[in-house]
Amino acid sequence: MSVKPGDASKGLLSKEQLEFFDTNGYLVIQDFASGEEMDSLRDAATRIVEAFDPNEHRSVFTTVNQTRVSDEYFLTSGDKIRCFFEADAFDDKGKLKQNKHLSINKLGHAMHDLDPAFHKFSDSPANAVLAKSLGYKDPMLVQSMYIFKQPSIGAAVTPHQDSTFLYTEPNTVTGMWYAVEDATEDNGCLWAVPGSHKLGSLSRFIRNPKGDGTVFTPENPPALETKGAVSLPVPKGSLVLIHGNLVHYSLDNRSPKSRHAFTLHVIEGKEHAKYPKDNWLQRADGSTEFMRFSAQA
Ligand code: FE2
Repeated sequence: MSVKPGDASKGLLSKEQLEFFDTNGYLVIQDFASGEEMDSLRDAATRIVEAFDPNEHRSVFTTVNQTRVSDEYFLTSGDKIRCFFEADAFDDKGKLKQNKHLSINKLGHAMHDLDPAFHKFSDSPANAVLAKSLGYKDPMLVQSMYIFKQPSIGAAVTPHQDSTFLYTEPNTVTGMWYAVEDATEDNGCLWAVPGSHKLGSLSRFIRNPKGDGTVFTPENPPALETKGAVSLPVPKGSLVLIHGNLVHYSLDNRSPKSRHAFTLHVIEGKEHAKYPKDNWLQRADGSTEFMRFSAQA
């Protein structure tokens, strides 16, 4: 199947769009990607889950407590493609309550590097233009996630700043959140606190000194205020840009409709920003070089 790409010029942000992003810390661009591109990501995610043996592990992704993601399966996923379950996927005996395709919370964290369909979309000219338009001199894609937000059991994501999880000095992370399906208030769309990116980066989620687990610093991060938050319902093919320090979250999905989304996180290359060795996401070879766009934007 040939995939009709979105219009590369969509990545070129207008002065008004850049001003909105600077002021609010987020920006919605409808029709950024084509329906065919979104379908190609959905098909690729389905293939990955189809090939996954759910008896291999029981690694759950939840944002409710910090011990959630400190297992080895998670810590070594920075340069791999792995499947993380919804917390509510299992019954009391630890058995999957339903089909594995309806039990996975997310895939992470290197589909953009390793899967041809995800790579093709991630490396699109529109994304390269977008990164340059945001002012990146040497943009690198550090991680990708495919988030299923499953019908009925899709878990909430608690308020957070992405810079807590992916930090550079200075902070240069931006999230690119693509709606693979329509996102509504019913099925768990994004919520954002306009202007909250001006708070700066308030905490970090880092590897412990032994490197075999994770901790927050400070140990008890400040509660993030969500007063004034706005919902960001968007149709399929939309892009939501998220400043690294923006407070954002999503509610759980108790509806019968899934809310699939794909996310990329871009950071500045090492001539311009330092990627700390205690960021949770590290590559097996210790490299802090990540995927660069092949198109010269
Ligand atoms: Fe986030």
